[in-house]
Amino acid sequence: MERLAGLFARACHAVVFTGAGVSTESGIPDFRSPGGVWDRYDPGELTWQNFIGSVAGRRRYWEVGRATYPVIRGARPNAAHRGIAELYRRGRLAWCITQNIDNLHQDAGLPPERVIELHGNATRARCLGCGAAFSRDEIHAWLDAGAEVPQCPACGGIVKPLTVLFGEAMPAEAMALAERESCAADLFVVVGSSLVVYPAASMPLHAKRAGATLVIVNLTETPFDARADLVLRARAGEVLDAVVTRLE
Ligand code: APR
Repeated sequence: MERLAGLFARACHAVVFTGAGVSTESGIPDFRSPGGVWDRYDPGELTWQNFIGSVAGRRRYWEVGRATYPVIRGARPNAAHRGIAELYRRGRLAWCITQNIDNLHQDAGLPPERVIELHGNATRARCLGCGAAFSRDEIHAWLDAGAEVPQCPACGGIVKPLTVLFGEAMPAEAMALAERESCAADLFVVVGSSLVVYPAASMPLHAKRAGATLVIVNLTETPFDARADLVLRARAGEVLDAVVTRLE
């Protein structure tokens, strides 16, 4: 942790790259740890093709969403989110690239324009027909009032959260910005990701190839550990807390 604090203290363009492991200490289960989301739901059911392809596919998506979104809705930033926001406040962080959709980096005080969301955001939704924007809370009020498959009140179109589903095109602007900033980083710190989902997981590779120091903070092994300059097998909240304390 001393080494990581020193790296942040000396970095000129530090980038943090987060996954679901940064939010588990806020009570949001990650995807691939035992008991995680993919132990309870089949990712093959929750694809873009299924959502767009049929009312039954959308009904299943919203059924799962009714069970999972309240956990995200009720979550608060933890020490890891707060530590990352504090690094930014102290001028020690340029960007946070995240795979998470829970908005907790922004809730912890990171300016939204400094958070690159590769997999979108679960707190907002839009109509795929006319583009009308909705908060996720509005949609869940419709679900709680008995709607099984929300439709746009204006045009009757398909309403979909702003999260990126498997099989859906990645947000081109976010991907281009993430790639640019990964290549510009002199310090690239992965926090709480298994680094198995592409193209997101290519970001640490871009950084390493461009000469960045690569650090991985993760409770379990990742395919990039051998290429990392430093690996901390520890909890994200504990590490970020310790790094900020040592920066003082
Ligand atoms: N501190 C550090 N690491 C943690 C903690 C913690 N408190 N809790 C969990 N982890 C680690 C786990 O060991 C795991 O390796 O975080 C990692 C989370 O990995 P995944 O569950 O695979 O989540 P993520 O890497 O974000 O998945 C990427 O996959 O399903 C898609 O779109 C989804 O964005 C997600 C993407």
